[in-house]
Amino acid sequence: MEIRHFLTLDSLTREELESVINRAAYLKQHFRKNYAEDTLKNRVLGMIFEKSSTRTRVSFEAGMAQLGGHAIYLAPSGSQIGRGEPMEDTARVISRMVDCIMLRTFEHERIEKFAEYSQVPVINGLSDSYHPCQLLADILTYTETRGSITGKKVIWVGDGNNMCHSYMNAARLFDFELVVTCPEGYDPDESITARNKNYVTMERDPMVAVKNADVIVTDVWASMGQEDEQIQRLDTFRAYQVNNELMLQAKNDAIFMHCLPAHRGEEVTTEVLEGPQSVVWEEAGNRLHSQKALIEFLMR
Ligand code: CP
Ligand code: NVA
Repeated sequence: MEIRHFLTLDSLTREELESVINRAAYLKQHFRKNYAEDTLKNRVLGMIFEKSSTRTRVSFEAGMAQLGGHAIYLAPSGSQIGRGEPMEDTARVISRMVDCIMLRTFEHERIEKFAEYSQVPVINGLSDSYHPCQLLADILTYTETRGSITGKKVIWVGDGNNMCHSYMNAARLFDFELVVTCPEGYDPDESITARNKNYVTMERDPMVAVKNADVIVTDVWASMGQEDEQIQRLDTFRAYQVNNELMLQAKNDAIFMHCLPAHRGEEVTTEVLEGPQSVVWEEAGNRLHSQKALIEFLMR
């Protein structure tokens, strides 16, 4: 049988994504009551982190344990990858020992190469270009808070980064309108913009972009690997902070999302992050349920 990977949202069809999200909602509803399900009994997930993580690591590891399986954590510096063992060698070795592998890395090509050589499903736990696991949690969060996201207006504010790219793919796959508002020079990748052009528009002015929005989403101004640019970006991105003034331009019942970790006082104010429109803690918790459903799907 063909191995199914999850490298970007496009690895699954819309119907498959929806079935994963429905299953996630079910698992969430029965959370702490369904440990007897054991759908991943004796299954092992290998987790390779070349970058830091809190949510991704804990959600995958807890999720495997809760469904009767086990996860192995390889830290950024603790494996032979950190000493230069090629991805294709690591993939061929580890995939002979575990049932599924999650990889968090830098260049997206590294994860594609890994998947090419793996004998088991590979999950992208974040690359420089995409963060599809976060989108499963975000779509689940929107759905349970407001219903279907289809036809809604979502605004991406800030850096045209990995999260932004995954939102662009999600706009096409889930059929919603995405407005991307970034400072000049920080637009998303042109090829990803082109692929999603019927669903995505660009608007330089954040106050204009958020008009009539159902969802406002942002992320850190400097992603992992861009630490050297952190100070300079503070200046460049200042007008793109999500604060009460910006939230007021959106619909009254608009929700605020952020994949976390958040930098209070930079991309978002404490007032918004901790305010009544913010769903960020539920969003983070939904990583657990959506990834349990994803692993079940890939192992089927
Ligand atoms: N949102 C997210 O992926 O968080 P971590 O970096 O903590 O895994
Ligand atoms: N864009 C951020 C997301 C962190 C979950 C990063 O890549 O660091």
